[in-house]
Amino acid sequence: MEGALQSKLTRLIAEGREIASAFELDVRQKKWHSFIAADYNVVLRQLLRLRRPGASFLECGSATGVIAIMADLLGFDACGIEIDADLVAVARRLADKYESAARFALGSFLPTGYEYRDSTGDRRLGTLMQGKSAYPQLGRSLEDFDIVFAYPWEGESALLQDLVKRYAGSDAQLLLYGDPMEVYRGKRQAG
Ligand SMILES: C[S@@+](CC[C@H](N)C(=O)[O-])C[C@H]1O[C@@H](n2cnc3c(N)ncnc32)[C@H](O)[C@@H]1O
Repeated sequence: MEGALQSKLTRLIAEGREIASAFELDVRQKKWHSFIAADYNVVLRQLLRLRRPGASFLECGSATGVIAIMADLLGFDACGIEIDADLVAVARRLADKYESAARFALGSFLPTGYEYRDSTGDRRLGTLMQGKSAYPQLGRSLEDFDIVFAYPWEGESALLQDLVKRYAGSDAQLLLYGDPMEVYRGKRQAG
């Protein structure tokens, strides 16, 4: 990676960490919120492995947008969807500051009409919030993305896998944050 890009990513990651630490103090210590930041360097290493020209990237639950912005700076055609308006504003400000073309939409990454049932028939969505689907704002659907990234809370990874199986293209990859990161190949279910 060239030096200028490396240094921009380093500055972005440092600022993203500072924002996440301030969020812990100002927001999460007062009221529960599901935003916890991933280790951006772990995600960056994975993005470098998956990098290919023109590939599209969606960050589901993009919070401050650091990961979608990193993806854009690495050459992905990157978008983020986030349900918290204050966080979307932070992401757009960071994208401007780091001269990134990553686009952020306010709303839910769950497509309209999506219903989840786990193996016991339970429809609960865990920490995921319900809201208007944000895909129309992007002018895209889940099917249009080559790589779908999410940082699921414990027990939510099955929902993300179900979502990608049902709505993403057959060659899409689902990237789930964790230690280690998990990569799934999306496969649309028949019917
Ligand atoms: C664990 S944080 C992940 C933040 C960021 N992607 C990262 O990895 O650093 C999950 C984020 O998903 C957002 N969220 C929850 N439900 C959502 C939904 N249905 N659609 C879009 N965003 C959602 C939360 O507001 C929170 O910012």
